[in-house]
Amino acid sequence: MITVGLITSEDIPEALKISLRELGSDYLSAEDFEEMIEPKDGFCMVARENGHVLGFSICKEFGPEEVDDRLRLPHSPEREMLLSKKKIGLLDSVSVSENARGLGVGRIMSEACLAQFERDGAEIMTAMAWEDVHGHANIDHILRNTLGITRSFALIGYWNQFVTSPKGHDCPMCGAPCKCYGRLYYRIF
Ligand SMILES: CC(C)(COP(=O)(O)OP(=O)(O)OC[C@H]1O[C@@H](n2cnc3c(N)ncnc32)[C@H](O)[C@@H]1OP(=O)(O)O)[C@@H](O)C(=O)NCCC(=O)NCCS
Repeated sequence: MITVGLITSEDIPEALKISLRELGSDYLSAEDFEEMIEPKDGFCMVARENGHVLGFSICKEFGPEEVDDRLRLPHSPEREMLLSKKKIGLLDSVSVSENARGLGVGRIMSEACLAQFERDGAEIMTAMAWEDVHGHANIDHILRNTLGITRSFALIGYWNQFVTSPKGHDCPMCGAPCKCYGRLYYRIF
């Protein structure tokens, strides 16, 4: 049976392995997962089956003063709207192991994150989804059809801003620098 719960230190090695493979070598580190054991600013859900991690979802919660640093959006009505909220829930990274895809793991974890944001009093849930060079966002269906989140604008080369490597983000799909998009989604509670 697949269960979803908050990450523990035992989950980190398998969660990191999934991240390195699916999100790239320079995106999340062991320290990023360790910080989520007793997080100050969010939570990390993991899906498990038979003692193994099938996927993880890192979420952040913050106020308007952190919107620009965390999301790096251009001046736009969407940015203004986010800046007007007292508490923002960001679905930051969702990843499911390749051999566990299509079983509903991504959906179950994303639903658990939405429910946690609501419990924590977030006024809005947002996500910057990875969208490939052909305009396909793997998580689009989950966000729009399952969670009822509105799709907004996309920013090309978005992920290069979040890594320190001089060549830019080492994207599993297009290499470095990454030419994929960050697509903004949001749902007001
Ligand atoms: C995107 C991802 C998290 C989906 O996880 P998953 O557990 O395979 O998804 P689910 O089984 O819960 O599927 C839920 C729905 O999304 C659809 N879906 C899943 N992956 C999809 C994809 N790559 N493209 C289009 N639709 C997809 C499913 O068909 C399903 O539709 P349904 O509700 O009508 O049956 C997973 O493919 C993944 O980790 N990809 C690599 C990393 C990534 O892109 N993460 C998102 C970064 S923003």
